[in-house]
Amino acid sequence: MNLNRQIERWLLVQRRAAAIHNRPFVTLSYAQSWDGSITTRAGESLGLSGAESLRLTHQLRSLHDGILVGIGTVLTDDPQLTVREWPGHSPQPIVLDSSLRMPSSARLCRRDDKRCWVLTRAGHDRQLAGQADVIGLAGDPTGRVDLFAALQWLKQHGIRHLMVEGGAEVITAFLKAGLVDALVLTIAPTLVGGLKGVGDLQVGAKQPLPRLHAMQSHMLGDDLILWGCLQYHRETAIAC
Ligand SMILES: NC(=O)c1ccc[n+]([C@@H]2O[C@H](COP(=O)([O-])OP(=O)(O)OC[C@H]3O[C@@H](n4cnc5c(N)ncnc54)[C@H](OP(=O)(O)O)[C@@H]3O)[C@@H](O)[C@H]2O)c1
Repeated sequence: MNLNRQIERWLLVQRRAAAIHNRPFVTLSYAQSWDGSITTRAGESLGLSGAESLRLTHQLRSLHDGILVGIGTVLTDDPQLTVREWPGHSPQPIVLDSSLRMPSSARLCRRDDKRCWVLTRAGHDRQLAGQADVIGLAGDPTGRVDLFAALQWLKQHGIRHLMVEGGAEVITAFLKAGLVDALVLTIAPTLVGGLKGVGDLQVGAKQPLPRLHAMQSHMLGDDLILWGCLQYHRETAIAC
């Protein structure tokens, strides 16, 4: 079995085994350099994945109902979040955007196939021009969209499997909240010394650290693919 099929099978098994009811199963997937950078600095785009890893990313997208990024990624990369390098359906595009900074010129607001769901704080919701629906949700204590409220709303609206692609603030926020179930990480053989994918999780040295359970890895082209399930050692954690 080739690696793409192996990871697909693994993911489907983990999903079936996970007992999650009030939110989607969350797969975190992004590319980093071997020093853990996802780009040079916030606001700059950097292609890290090789052609084979990019195909894997598109395959993973096709296995999810929804794909979520932060507004920082939209403003920097202007992504389409479609499935192009693999046969399959594109997932529902979703953006976390507390203050509604989404430009109506963004490619996500110009897709013919799907309207982008822009999750913002209640009170900031107003109509956006283009192919986008703005959804007002509860804020968290820092004034951002509350992730638990967002995931609950997504589940209620048909998203059972969610892929989170970044960027750094969103990756960190999901990990800090214990809301990542599975990780598929591309590690490119480059050294960037830039913006780290995972920021401060505020875990003390004497506390149990989040771990990857039953971690596996394999080379794909020049990149190393690493995958496993997250264990947080907390009662709220979902171990799969
Ligand atoms: N290598 C990769 O795989 C990869 C993937 C994606 C992105 N990137 C790179 O990552 C960089 C962007 O990362 P970034 O950290 O600047 O931005 P980001 O994580 O894409 O977006 C962060 C923004 O999302 C909004 N947000 C709303 N609710 C949030 C919540 N609960 N938690 C966290 N954020 C929330 C916040 O803006 P508001 O407060 O205004 O809502 C926040 O500033 C770009 O340079 C991009 O190229 C790399």
